Amino acid sequence: MPVVLLDHDADFDGWRSAARALVAAEIPSDDIIWQVAGAQADLLAGAPTELPAVEATFAVPKRFVELAEAVICHRDPARFALLYQALRRLRGSPRLLEDSADPLVHRLDTMAKAVGRDLHKMRAFVRFREVAGEDGTRFIAWFEPEHHVVRRNAGFFARRFANMRWSILTPELCVHWDGAALDFTPGTTRADAPDGDPLEETWRTYYASIFNPARLKVKAMTKEMPKKYWRNMPETSLVSTLIAEAGTRTEAMVANGSNEKAPAMARSPELDEAIVYDSLSAARAAARHCTRCPLYKNATQTVFGEGAPAAPLMFVGEQPGDQEDLAGRPFVGPAGQLFDRALADAGIDRGATYVTNAVKHFKFTPRGTRRIHDKPDAGEIDACRFWIDHERRLVRPRLVVGLGATAARSLLGRPVTIAKTRGAAIDQDDGSEVWITVHPSFLLRLPDAAAKRREYQRFVDDLGQVGARLKDLVD
Ligand code: URA
Repeated sequence: MPVVLLDHDADFDGWRSAARALVAAEIPSDDIIWQVAGAQADLLAGAPTELPAVEATFAVPKRFVELAEAVICHRDPARFALLYQALRRLRGSPRLLEDSADPLVHRLDTMAKAVGRDLHKMRAFVRFREVAGEDGTRFIAWFEPEHHVVRRNAGFFARRFANMRWSILTPELCVHWDGAALDFTPGTTRADAPDGDPLEETWRTYYASIFNPARLKVKAMTKEMPKKYWRNMPETSLVSTLIAEAGTRTEAMVANGSNEKAPAMARSPELDEAIVYDSLSAARAAARHCTRCPLYKNATQTVFGEGAPAAPLMFVGEQPGDQEDLAGRPFVGPAGQLFDRALADAGIDRGATYVTNAVKHFKFTPRGTRRIHDKPDAGEIDACRFWIDHERRLVRPRLVVGLGATAARSLLGRPVTIAKTRGAAIDQDDGSEVWITVHPSFLLRLPDAAAKRREYQRFVDDLGQVGARLKDLVD
């Protein structure tokens, strides 16, 4: 009876090479004993079997590899055998995974989903405490995952907190990052994790400042942030007080007009999803600390939108350029100057509009002393849509004009061709209209003067059409 010894609980590579050898040797699932090094051994199992290294004998769908990488992290001890059964069946039925009614497929899908939720919870609810040591500061978090997700999530935390030295302690496995490499040590107990520190105070202040009593949704909040995790999260000690005070705070906000500022703070994007900002200034303050995509790392600052707070007309560009990044304001560089001229030619007062960008950080490649503009990718546009959505909800413009393809993608949620989309309204669920035209930088890049003049006039005509439409709507 073959005994397979895996290096650790989520040892996908070990499982895969053993499974290949066992499938090639036609060993039935029931004949195999799967063990994990360090775990309580099956006393009757005997020594691990030496299995030959075998090349894959048949192709498995990519989806199976993804499924297996998730399922291997599940706490169920049967996971290795279940995956092995699926692997054997895949040889004769390559489309097995498409049959979600199949009991084995259903069970594996359910396990993968549970692991996915656990990965997400760990990313959202880990909170670091700052600890001073002889060799400098380290950030330490305590977390209790339900499944074996620590290794799987380690790379995420290393990327997210690349410049910090940190440890995440869990009962089963601890992971440490020293700024260059990940290290794993055996699990520990909660007593080894620090309980509170000045950083928590900052986090609590921050959470209290962004907490919006007028939009309190206790059910949604407890669903997203199950109580199980509350005790590790500094802000949750505030939650019951804030809920209790919600009525009074709403009245105070209405009376004062809310303009609370948030202190600088590392924040989790998942927590962001639960927040509804009640004013542009609150959204702008929070966006200063945005880490929703990696662009914040190299940019000087977040360039949020600006203009009339209840403007009926909103313009959305692509992303700040070099000058906008330094000034912290949208459309102030060469493209901005051309935009201003076109607005004036179309009879639109920029001061009565709201001007923003689809992506709020400057993306560039350094070349000598220059920073060369790079196009934001779909992931960056999608991550930043969070802020555009808040701006649209708070400003409530009747018309939103997307300047160029990036803005169009952000506003419409899909790629479009400017030539096919410009010149007509696209109705939105909130009653507003989106209009698409070219980006002013496109005009700056045109090589010959005649094309420049012609395209500039088309741009002014597009703006004029939008201005006329707005007049119709408000008159
Ligand atoms: N281009 C943009 O799309 N936005 C700016 O703010 C500047 C240049």
